[in-house]
Amino acid sequence: MKVLKRVLKWMTGAILVLLLLAFLVGFIAYWRSTNDCGHTAAPTNPMKAIINCDYGVSHLKLENIEKPVPNDDQVLVRVHAASVNPYDWHFIEGTPKIIRLMGVGLRKPKDTRVGVDFAGTVEAVGKNVTNFKPGDEVFGGRGGAFAEYVCPRANRAVALKPANITFEQAASVNIAGVTALQAIRDKGKVQPGQKVLINGASGGVGTFAVQIAKSYGADVTGVCSTRNIDLVRSLGADHIIDYTKEDFTKGNQHYDVILDNVANHSLSECRRVLTPKGKYVMIGGGGANEQGFLGVMARPLKAMVLSPFISQQMGMMMADTNQKDLTVLADMMQAGKLKPVIDRTYKLDQVPDAIRYLEEGHARGKVIIAVK
Ligand SMILES: NC(=O)c1ccc[n+]([C@@H]2O[C@H](COP(=O)([O-])OP(=O)(O)OC[C@H]3O[C@@H](n4cnc5c(N)ncnc54)[C@H](OP(=O)(O)O)[C@@H]3O)[C@@H](O)[C@H]2O)c1
Repeated sequence: MKVLKRVLKWMTGAILVLLLLAFLVGFIAYWRSTNDCGHTAAPTNPMKAIINCDYGVSHLKLENIEKPVPNDDQVLVRVHAASVNPYDWHFIEGTPKIIRLMGVGLRKPKDTRVGVDFAGTVEAVGKNVTNFKPGDEVFGGRGGAFAEYVCPRANRAVALKPANITFEQAASVNIAGVTALQAIRDKGKVQPGQKVLINGASGGVGTFAVQIAKSYGADVTGVCSTRNIDLVRSLGADHIIDYTKEDFTKGNQHYDVILDNVANHSLSECRRVLTPKGKYVMIGGGGANEQGFLGVMARPLKAMVLSPFISQQMGMMMADTNQKDLTVLADMMQAGKLKPVIDRTYKLDQVPDAIRYLEEGHARGKVIIAVK
């Protein structure tokens, strides 16, 4: 008995020491977590860019920073327009909080540059670049796009802009358009005639998804609110469910593919309206203030655990923006099969207002930043 007591005492002591050590390490890591704000020399060749020194939209600032110089594999793009995505506010706000532990920055954002989607004109190219030349009009994605210039790698997420769309339309495509394409083509494997439901059909991803699903020959149901019915129908949706009046998970219709941009119904509710071999593709959900520690990441974990035990496929997708898919979307836009929907346009110094608007969760299509 005495031995057991001693072992328990030692174990409790060891656990307490470990906890104290973990706390100390966490405390030091937290206070050492910083960024380059206030530590850089005055720019010699300045450009304007939005900088995020501390978490929170109110900390965003328009500053003069050094204009980037393309390396051998990059192109220098003069940005004409950028677009805002929920992705941006995840990094600006540092939510869900687990991303701060995953290298985004414990106390402050490590990377102070924000924005991804851009469209603009190539001003210079690195010496290894053969697929672009100065003067080319391009669009794509590169971190730090809320700025006058970006330097994407020539073989990554950058493609030629079709002549029949504006820079603002082109700037809206990268994250939302590629997500919609990969959800329908790769995750949903949508076939002609299949019934596809798009929850959140009027938002950035949804407006692309409705059009792309139609171009794949699907029978499309768009879920949106009353004020967006005409918009979603004009994009080609065959059926509309007004979520303010009807709950799509309680209807009699079964769907081959559900694309979920909102995640406001439980997985079992969604399964109820999936065909026996149907696919539930979770894209996103959860507003800026509903993130908690794990936020929207808890749901794909549940889907992963559930999936092996059911006939339906359920899971989350993470878009991989790349040149090939941007070119697919450019061709669709060139052929008139895909038209970006623009809600509002803000100026570069109004990025905080644009982010706040997007965070409300009711954008109709894409929110644009006019840079030039
Ligand atoms: N997994 C990935 O790789 C990936 C990529 C891109 C985006 N995402 C995520 O996907 C989600 C959607 O992105 P987004 O760019 O489309 O966002 P968004 O543009 O902000 O979406 C706003 C739209 O959602 C609609 N909505 C809000 N509540 C709704 C409800 N209860 N039912 C149906 N529609 C509702 C709104 O319509 P009303 O105004 O009518 O309410 C609005 O049109 C976000 O969570 C984002 O983080 C994930």
